[in-house]
Amino acid sequence: MPVITTKKELDQRLSSLPKSRSLGLVPTMGALHEGHAALVKKAISENRCVVVSIFVNPTQFDNKEDLEHYPDTLEKDIFLLEGISGDILIFAPTANEIYDHRILSKTYDFEGLDKVMEGAFRNNHFNGVGTIVETLLLLVKPDRAYFGEKDFQQLQIIRKLVDKNDIPVAIIGCPIVREASGLAMSSRNERLSETLRQDASFIYETLRTAKAKFGMKSAKYVRDWAEKQFENHPDLQLEYFEITDLDTLTPIQTKKTDVKYRAFVAVFCGAVRLIDNIALN
Ligand code: PAJ
Repeated sequence: MPVITTKKELDQRLSSLPKSRSLGLVPTMGALHEGHAALVKKAISENRCVVVSIFVNPTQFDNKEDLEHYPDTLEKDIFLLEGISGDILIFAPTANEIYDHRILSKTYDFEGLDKVMEGAFRNNHFNGVGTIVETLLLLVKPDRAYFGEKDFQQLQIIRKLVDKNDIPVAIIGCPIVREASGLAMSSRNERLSETLRQDASFIYETLRTAKAKFGMKSAKYVRDWAEKQFENHPDLQLEYFEITDLDTLTPIQTKKTDVKYRAFVAVFCGAVRLIDNIALN
């Protein structure tokens, strides 16, 4: 499977593709698992060729240690992608190649989407995500780009980025892939002990019960209930539990029948920070 590391080679490869071929892009930071594979499979089913980028983007990490510990598993990633049939090109550049030796993020106006939840707890994170995703979209010029609902706030921010900057690409959201226990797949799950991994299934269990309760109770009731569940759990520390409007990501005040809502959660499971979310109606 071709692994391209420079922008020049990427350009050459892409310009040699027939113009009639539709192109998909799946941006990743590597350490691939079945959640990523589902995005790649969907991209292959909708495009004639798919670029999978593998790049641990330094500008989106607010925590240097988190960046330093991010797993580097390129060989395994290539192996996983080789198991998927289709025309796949891997783009795995270095940071200097991407940022021309000036590792900086742009500042975006995401109209408040970046001020809540992950944005409130991870300083400058979404400016970093915006910078790399915009860079990749402009380099690859795909017809469609694929993102997981696992990072639902990121997905909505990328839709806003594309919309505000008139980037001609369709952004496709893909459902969350879960382990058998219900735990959302994540490269961070590998850092959990066996016991903590079992504990972590409590996150999705709580989201599912919150969804059932949301049909009958007020949003405040559901939020207070969920917070209490985590307070009572010895191994999980809740960072936030929010119920927001799907489009604006603003926390719900009073329920409206014509608005779609989603619940979002960030939890420390030992030292590992996990996020998850669920559609409520
Ligand atoms: P990364 O965490 O590697 O995720 C790459 C893509 O896979 C994202 O769109 C993410 O939402 C999706 N994904 C991860 N786990 C998933 C799961 N269990 N089910 C469905 N989709 C899942 O997100 C990033 O990288 C970066 O921020 C990136 C967009 C690549 C920019 O650097």
